[in-house]
Amino acid sequence: MSHADDHEGTRRDFLYYATAGAGAVTAGAAVWPLVTQMSPAADTRALASILVDVADVAPGTQLTVKWRGKPVFIRRRTPEEIQAARDTALTDLVDVNGENANKPDADAADANRTMDEAGEWLVMMGVCTHLGCVPLGNAGDFGGWFCPCHGSHYDTAGRIRKGPAPRNLPVPVAAFTDETTIKLG
Ligand code: FES
Repeated sequence: MSHADDHEGTRRDFLYYATAGAGAVTAGAAVWPLVTQMSPAADTRALASILVDVADVAPGTQLTVKWRGKPVFIRRRTPEEIQAARDTALTDLVDVNGENANKPDADAADANRTMDEAGEWLVMMGVCTHLGCVPLGNAGDFGGWFCPCHGSHYDTAGRIRKGPAPRNLPVPVAAFTDETTIKLG
């Protein structure tokens, strides 16, 4: 394959992902005006929050749900994933901010990113902080997530470790309402 072919392939991949991203944004934008138009504030609020049943999520797997037009990863981590994240020093991180809407001023220590004290549950927006692609789970050099668009590697706490993405995957407002239900928003 010539260099020109190579370049073309890369550009096509990029366009594909960029188009997919734009599609997702457009879909979200189309829904909101309709909701605003049809319904009073209470209905909008109800849509703004969703309840997710996580009873069937086994350790080492994740559920991806669509919320406000974007993917949200709900991962139940294995003891090994928790340990790897907790053994990582803040000085090894690109972004030392926790990026957690539930703890706005906290640093990126693993304990500040998870839903529970034991660190089993991690909830994050599934949107790469570089240009918005959806990272792949169980992938990358740090055993967490890998964004194939331009090669960003996130660790098992969703913190950016390598590649062009500038920030950790953000943790949205979320809380357990009972043992097996997570409320987003
Ligand atoms: S969008 Fe560029 S690395 Fe993820």
